[in-house]
Amino acid sequence: MENFEFQNPTRIVFGRGTETRVGKEIAAYSRKVLLHYGSGSIKKSGLYDAVCKSLAGAGVKWIELPGVVPNPRLSLVQEGIRICRKEKIDFILAVGGGSVIDSAKAIGIGVPYTGDVWEFYTRKATVREMLPVGVVLTIPAAGSESSNGSVITKEEGGYKRDAGAECMRPKFAIMNPELTFTLPPYQTACGASDIMAHVMERYFTHASGVDFTDRLCEVTLKTIIHNTPVVLETPRDYDARAEIMWAGTIAHNDLLGTGRISDWATHQIEHELSGIYDVAHGAGLAVLFPAWMRHVCAEDMRRFVQFAVRVWGVENDFASPERTAMEGIRRLVSFYRDIGLPTTLKELGVKDDRFEEMSKKCVDRGNVGNFVRLDAAGVQKVFALAR
Ligand code: NZQ
Ligand code: ZN
Repeated sequence: MENFEFQNPTRIVFGRGTETRVGKEIAAYSRKVLLHYGSGSIKKSGLYDAVCKSLAGAGVKWIELPGVVPNPRLSLVQEGIRICRKEKIDFILAVGGGSVIDSAKAIGIGVPYTGDVWEFYTRKATVREMLPVGVVLTIPAAGSESSNGSVITKEEGGYKRDAGAECMRPKFAIMNPELTFTLPPYQTACGASDIMAHVMERYFTHASGVDFTDRLCEVTLKTIIHNTPVVLETPRDYDARAEIMWAGTIAHNDLLGTGRISDWATHQIEHELSGIYDVAHGAGLAVLFPAWMRHVCAEDMRRFVQFAVRVWGVENDFASPERTAMEGIRRLVSFYRDIGLPTTLKELGVKDDRFEEMSKKCVDRGNVGNFVRLDAAGVQKVFALAR
């Protein structure tokens, strides 16, 4: 097991009706907030009204910035920074999913910084402080409600890049599974795929002596595998929604990576797809993860056999570890297909004419991955296998 430090200070407020507490939660920090949200799902569901009522009840004033889109854009972040400075806002409330939260975090790190916020995303600058951010989560997926990262897309050039720092974890995350009842099936499935990817990025490691976290990873994956079909069949199944929502946070709050060296190549590769083709992150991951697995599994066949046997219940074919490993990957692909996700780039509408460009862009801050370090040629191979 590797040495590690672990601290996740985000306070989780979980369960039915918890969104009504948001005003009280914020009052401990601020009297004037930026209310940041997406394209309207919170108005349709009634959540917007509940949040406004709670803020007003706690004597918290707010200014609104709606319009966050999936793969959140830098231009809106910059507008948010201008508004916060002009209005002397000192707290940002994100009501939505990973895109809204990431946009809120970007605004939060941009306000106190004198340079261009994009410098954090190109590694030209290091994040040292962030305005406090609070979250009302509406989709279990990105894990941004307690993660230390933010992923933003710069429209010019189609660059989707991440920034991270410990100070970027939200102060609190309000998580009511009922708020996820309105998710369209495709978004539910994309969320499941992202949660699984966050676990698998940590699972495939060369670190030894990590049986405890191996088992935590496996049970988190099995929770998603079991409950996703349940909520697709019965969208208002509270318990199944709750299992997914909590697993989604645990998958990316860094607990499962303790003592391990995580990979993250597939996430970096997916960001190139989303940056150029604006595909949903979870859909891109469903296409790319099995391709990455096929590309790297020879590196440690035993780990892929363990994945197949313990997560997917594949019978271990001791005469052919490769066959066992491949069956695990095949079952992963079949699961994605069963929950309605694309499993090839073709299905995502991505042709092969920009593989080289995306592969070069993917390594512009250095080669990616730790299980196997991939250069541009390696990344291109993964794209080719995902065709
Ligand atoms: O904008 P609205 O109208 O709210 O619609 C959203 C959006 O269209 C809709 N939605 C959300 N909750 C809903 C709902 N519709 C009905 N009912 C609800 N309860 O779902 C759509 C997708 O929302 P989005 O926020 O984009 O989803 P997600 O949480 O999957 O976030 C994806 C973003 O997070 C980044 C991804 O790259 C992507 O940009 N990630 C952030 C990470 C982090 N900060 O730690 C880690 C992840 O790996 C990921 O990269
Ligand atoms: Zn992700």
